[in-house]
Amino acid sequence: MKTIGVLTSGGDSPGMNAAIRAVVRYGIYSGVKVLGIKEGFKGLMEGKIEEMELSSVANIIQRGGTILRSARSDEFMTDRGKEKALNILKVFNIDGLVVIGGDGTFRGALDLSKLGVPVIGVPGTIDNDLGYTDYTIGFDTVVNTVVDAIGKIRDTTESHGRASIIEVMGRRCGDIALQSGLAGGADSVIVPEVGLDEVNICKKLIDSRNRGKRHSIIIFAEGVGDVTPYELGDIIKKNTDIDTRVTILGHLQRGGSPSAFDRTLASRLGAKAVQLLLEGDAGKLVGRRNGVLVAEEIEIGLSMEKVFDEETYKLTDILSI
Ligand code: F6P
Repeated sequence: MKTIGVLTSGGDSPGMNAAIRAVVRYGIYSGVKVLGIKEGFKGLMEGKIEEMELSSVANIIQRGGTILRSARSDEFMTDRGKEKALNILKVFNIDGLVVIGGDGTFRGALDLSKLGVPVIGVPGTIDNDLGYTDYTIGFDTVVNTVVDAIGKIRDTTESHGRASIIEVMGRRCGDIALQSGLAGGADSVIVPEVGLDEVNICKKLIDSRNRGKRHSIIIFAEGVGDVTPYELGDIIKKNTDIDTRVTILGHLQRGGSPSAFDRTLASRLGAKAVQLLLEGDAGKLVGRRNGVLVAEEIEIGLSMEKVFDEETYKLTDILSI
């Protein structure tokens, strides 16, 4: 293997740059040429590719976003799109590919792998929704960002004696809500894995008011789906007469400097991806389980069920009393 390519695809996440840096520097250290592919699979099909030097990744370990930029591409998912991608890989003599992204990106990687391209997937998504790895790159940073936001919202919520509903990202996965809910001392955490129990939420609010608590924080995962946070606010007002406010944290969660945890995870996984490619052990997703780096066949990794952390969910509820 003489030349490898690296791309980031799907929603960006803090730590993607640290992963790109690791792929480029570990690749060059190992004696291969590293090409940066801009704008994910879309850029691959369009040949937006340039050689990366050691200096191309200087001063990026601390930066959010992705210097390679990211995109979602419907065309790549078609046979024609994959054919285009294969041609470009040939034209640029790319012998192996590192793709950094979430499950959509990994499905693209699986298709390329089936077509004979040596590919390694590095988990870069804030959602932490992949079953084969305990952590995805960006998750720790987003939890810290949400906890910081909860602290600020709590100040004003307390001053006004209100209940604040804070919507967080995560698609169908409640991990961001759960971990930031526990760390931020939330009164209720609403996640897709459990669903919404409006009666219980209203009851908890009334009970805590009766005990003298003046404010409440409710974390609402975007994937809940049944009602919007605004509708929940109306339900609470109607049933408890407690004034509510809604904050949608939105894309603020995806930016910012990655945490030390995400930088180290990204650095280790980026290097591991290159190692596997060079050892001829491609067609894998790299991750971390129980503190140890792992590599799973792409298809198996994608099919592993994401287990919801019931224990943390119960603990958050118990500690919110
Ligand atoms: O997958 C990452 C994520 O941030 C999700 O949590 C969120 O639902 C989605 O991407 C938002 O996507 P977009 O940036 O395309 O609006």
